[in-house]
Amino acid sequence: MIKSKINKIKTICCIGAGYVGGPTMAVIADKCPKIKVEVVDLNFERISRWNADDFKKIPIYEPGLFEIVKRCRGKNLFFSNEIKEKIKIADMIFVSVNTPTKEKGIGAGKASDLKWVEACARQIAKYAQGHTIVVEKSTLPVRTAEVIKEILEASQSSTSSYRKATFDVLSNPEFLAEGNAIQDLINPDRILIGGDNIHAMNSLTDIYKQWVSKDKILHTNIWSSELAKLTANAFLAQRISSINSIGALCEATGADVREVARAIGSDSRIGSKFLDSGPGFGGSCFKKDILNLVYLSEYFGLKEVATFWNSVVDLNNWHQKRISNLITKKLFGTLSNKKILILGFAFKANTNDTRESAAIQICQNLLDEGANLFIHDPKVEKSQIEKDLGLTPLNEKTDFRELNSSWTFVKDLSESFWDTDAVVVLTEWKEYTKLNWKEASSKMRKPAWVFDARSILLPEQIKKQNLNFWRVGDGFN
Ligand code: NAD
Ligand code: UGA
Repeated sequence: MIKSKINKIKTICCIGAGYVGGPTMAVIADKCPKIKVEVVDLNFERISRWNADDFKKIPIYEPGLFEIVKRCRGKNLFFSNEIKEKIKIADMIFVSVNTPTKEKGIGAGKASDLKWVEACARQIAKYAQGHTIVVEKSTLPVRTAEVIKEILEASQSSTSSYRKATFDVLSNPEFLAEGNAIQDLINPDRILIGGDNIHAMNSLTDIYKQWVSKDKILHTNIWSSELAKLTANAFLAQRISSINSIGALCEATGADVREVARAIGSDSRIGSKFLDSGPGFGGSCFKKDILNLVYLSEYFGLKEVATFWNSVVDLNNWHQKRISNLITKKLFGTLSNKKILILGFAFKANTNDTRESAAIQICQNLLDEGANLFIHDPKVEKSQIEKDLGLTPLNEKTDFRELNSSWTFVKDLSESFWDTDAVVVLTEWKEYTKLNWKEASSKMRKPAWVFDARSILLPEQIKKQNLNFWRVGDGFN
């Protein structure tokens, strides 16, 4: 018997206060003031940052997020480590934990590691009371809901009569893109709800209906919903590998990838979005979700399907390597004792997230060639770059010329061009479009290069300052 109708959804619990859990729950709290939203996480530091007195210190940088948290926190939005207590009181629980690629065992390197999801299911099974709707918000392989259901059902048969716990499981994948998360959440292209109990699906629909029009809320069966999420990411990533492959061809033939993208993008069947050639896609999800799709295809004996999707990741890896090789070649085949200024470390602009950022691989390749990197990013912290590169930074005052394979964190961009052999733009932060190249050039060591892997600089502005210029996919370089 389903007792959860929307008027009874008074308390939501979200397990996982990360890039999805935090912003998603903030928007739900903002749009549904009558619902109490409890976000829990086992990471103490993350939660204490969500509760920081200075709202600018919340752990995730996302335009518009801090204002919402400021409005709702302490009213109907709460962050805590009280996982057990909040599961107990929740009518609906969103599972929003990480699902990275498995590192060991069966499916290592491809399949998703579901240990965090399973741990959540076990905690819910243990502590939930009454009827609870469990919502998969994390991106999961097809048929994960079955695993969750099995764990929950096992607890149902063993719960004592005083704690009658019953459950529904829904799939409600998240399609937000980092850097634009709040806009995507407030005005989504669609909300996808997969399930087999229409009452539970309607309970979740009623929450979204507070701000999303009903025609954008799609109901499907649970497996279609799980697979649609993986497919959406695979299609998006595939477009990037496609345009980056054409970019390489443009460089070889004298064509320009921006012109090609504009020409094909005006075909309404192709569409103009997601055709920007760059340093290769990054982010925590594209690669892991495609590899997951590859694993599933292999598991079901669909070798050709697996090979097709794997090539999207292969092309991306090749493209990143191609960019670092090209930089080395242009700098006379050696980067020893040279200073390279890296502009941007986040995997895209408007986020502090560096997971799978193309910058990590490209910087590592340049360090392997002996370069001394000076790395700037407006939002990524020094400690994060240190973790990603696995290398301690130099003190800003150290004389790098005698060194090889070092990196230094740049706080003040204006001072960082001195003696630089090359500048490499890896993230499309707006502030990099406003640099004064006349002044920069006067400080750089000649012959000097500017490499624009994001197409955000104006070639003529750079070239007229006695600087060599390369940009991705530009056959006129
Ligand atoms: P994240 O790593 O930023 O956050 C996950 C959080 O879950 C962490 O803070 C971790 O401490 C917490 N956690 C793990 N196990 C827990 C447990 N048992 N109890 C309590 N807390 C626990 O990850 P994310 O980027 O928010 O991604 C979460 C999921 O959403 C992934 O499946 C991802 O594929 C999917 N997704 C991510 C994005 C994105 O833009 N990042 C977009 C759409 C979907
Ligand atoms: C992506 C999807 O866009 C979201 O719909 C999805 O919810 C999310 O993954 C997820 O499941 O995690 P995200 O990774 O945050 O979002 O950011 P994108 O805007 O998709 O960019 C991904 C990468 O592709 C970035 O490195 C970006 O710079 C690159 N990119 C994007 C390009 O190189 N060219 C483009 O035209 C677009």
